[in-house]
Amino acid sequence: LSAPGLTSFPEGGTAAVFGASGGLGAALTEAVRASGRFASVVGFSRGGAPGFDLTDEASIQAATARLAEGPPLRLAILAAGVLHGPGFRPEKSWRDLDASALRTVFEVNALGPALLMKHVLPLLAADGRSAFVALSARVGSIGDNEAGGWYAYRASKAALNQMVRTAAIELRRRRPQALCVSLHPGTVDTALSKPFAKTGLSVRPPETAAADLLEVVDRLQPDQSGGFFDYAGQAIPW
Ligand SMILES: NC(=O)c1ccc[n+]([C@@H]2O[C@H](COP(=O)([O-])OP(=O)(O)OC[C@H]3O[C@@H](n4cnc5c(N)ncnc54)[C@H](OP(=O)(O)O)[C@@H]3O)[C@@H](O)[C@H]2O)c1
Repeated sequence: LSAPGLTSFPEGGTAAVFGASGGLGAALTEAVRASGRFASVVGFSRGGAPGFDLTDEASIQAATARLAEGPPLRLAILAAGVLHGPGFRPEKSWRDLDASALRTVFEVNALGPALLMKHVLPLLAADGRSAFVALSARVGSIGDNEAGGWYAYRASKAALNQMVRTAAIELRRRRPQALCVSLHPGTVDTALSKPFAKTGLSVRPPETAAADLLEVVDRLQPDQSGGFFDYAGQAIPW
């Protein structure tokens, strides 16, 4: 697998991956490192130091404060997210809706990412190309929802997409060359998808998905900021 060159980014900056302990987060961190394009590649996770927890704004602030000290921030990727956890699984029916599960999924997939943008977008390099990339999911598309189910996950990713779009509009005024986008990685073989990967569905290794996602990031143009794209670079309906 050849590492994407990420040559659209000026050399020597910082890249950061939030949720670097996950299947996709680890593969993305590795591929960003392998590009050799950045002077510093930093991975953040709950188990790291400083700890990065999307449900704790102070930890988000502490993690991002570190980035302010390094070379200019060129690429920030949010690779954290939740679909199932202790005591909850994606809902098959409205009968399964549960306030505490809804709260947890929204907190990690939508509220935390909004707070991350609050702290990280002001740190993007003042000049030249930079990008904030949030891993979303096609099932967060309202226009594309034909199957139903998965209420909390779908709605939290739809909320994430709206946050990204809204922040992109504000970012454009300050950093005209910056990107702020939501990306769908495809169905990828990780702990998140494992219980739900149906046979026959194409499930890809995280390394392949990471390489594809970074190729898309490398190709996206500033006028596509605020958009929602799949791992092939195709726009996904809202
Ligand atoms: N895999 C797929 O098929 C697929 C499809 C569409 C979209 N996505 C999206 O891709 C992203 C990455 O998923 P993945 O497949 O790599 O899943 P994964 O292997 O389960 O990784 C999830 C990551 O999220 C982190 N995380 C969970 N709760 C957190 C919190 N409160 N604060 C900070 N980090 C937290 C985990 O950190 P810990 O190690 O600390 O638990 C882990 O790094 C998610 O946003 C997911 O929705 C995945």
